[in-house]
Amino acid sequence: MNNSLILVILVALFWCSSIQAETYSEVNLIKNVVVSDTYYKNCAPSVTCNSTSKYRTTDGTCNNLEHPLWGSTNTPYIRLGPAYYDDGNYTIRLQHKDGMELPGARELQLGLFWPKSCLFDPPDIRNYHANQIGQFVTHDISLMPSNVAVPPADCCTVQGDDNISYICQAVIKISPSDPLFSEINKTCLPFRRAMTASFDFNCEITPQIPVRNDLYYRIF
Ligand SMILES: *[C@@H]1O[C@H](CO)[C@@H](O)[C@H](O)[C@H]1NC(C)=O
Ligand SMILES: *[C@@H]1O[C@H](CO)[C@@H](O)[C@H](O)[C@H]1NC(C)=O
Ligand SMILES: *[C@@H]1O[C@H](CO)[C@@H](O)[C@H](O)[C@H]1NC(C)=O
Ligand SMILES: *[C@@H]1O[C@H](CO)[C@@H](O)[C@H](O)[C@H]1NC(C)=O
Repeated sequence: MNNSLILVILVALFWCSSIQAETYSEVNLIKNVVVSDTYYKNCAPSVTCNSTSKYRTTDGTCNNLEHPLWGSTNTPYIRLGPAYYDDGNYTIRLQHKDGMELPGARELQLGLFWPKSCLFDPPDIRNYHANQIGQFVTHDISLMPSNVAVPPADCCTVQGDDNISYICQAVIKISPSDPLFSEINKTCLPFRRAMTASFDFNCEITPQIPVRNDLYYRIF
């Protein structure tokens, strides 16, 4: 899919939706580059490159002989902007900067896709495009997996606990007023947070920083 087609779809999506995109003028992703090199200084494995090798590595190491780990799999993403966690380090934000409660994932989904607000809006067309763009972004450009080996298998089962583990803090809540609630009879959809340097790779970096997991020759 070419870039202009993606742009047209995104513009149409926001134009039709009742949710307005908001601009954070203070976050200029290009000017305020925040580079966390803690991982590279403290936790990175050492890599020996073969500079005459005929082939590139599948895990992306040694693509840059001066910085052999840059862009390789299982290394943290480098942030382009500052992290905004509720507690500064780990917990996801539930509030807007002005104190207003942020909408949940399901509310966003309903706001964007449920009302058929455009005349030219056949059912489910936008859902499908968003899915494909999401798939492209999350699999071909980045891959932020979650650690499925860490219990509980279903994060919804621990939502009543006092101390919900980091990985289970982002389940998708479904309100009883949800238009599909009566059909699916669920108040929670399981969701696990992405792997991070400190929780999954034994490298204490705060604020937490997600780890990329894509390879350069991935077969789906
Ligand atoms: C480095 O790559 C060259 C070219 O593929 C190969 O001949 C050589 O054996 C490699 N050296 C090592 C130490 O793997
Ligand atoms: C966040 O991390 C910093 C640096 O490690 C630490 O000093 C601070 O106490 C942490 N805050 C929380 C809420 O965990
Ligand atoms: C909450 O869980 C974390 C991670 O399992 C643990 O380190 C921490 O001590 C727990 N806190 C309380 C108050 O139980
Ligand atoms: C959902 O729960 C209601 C009330 O308990 C029940 O009548 C209905 O059959 C359930 N629907 C499904 C799909 O399980």
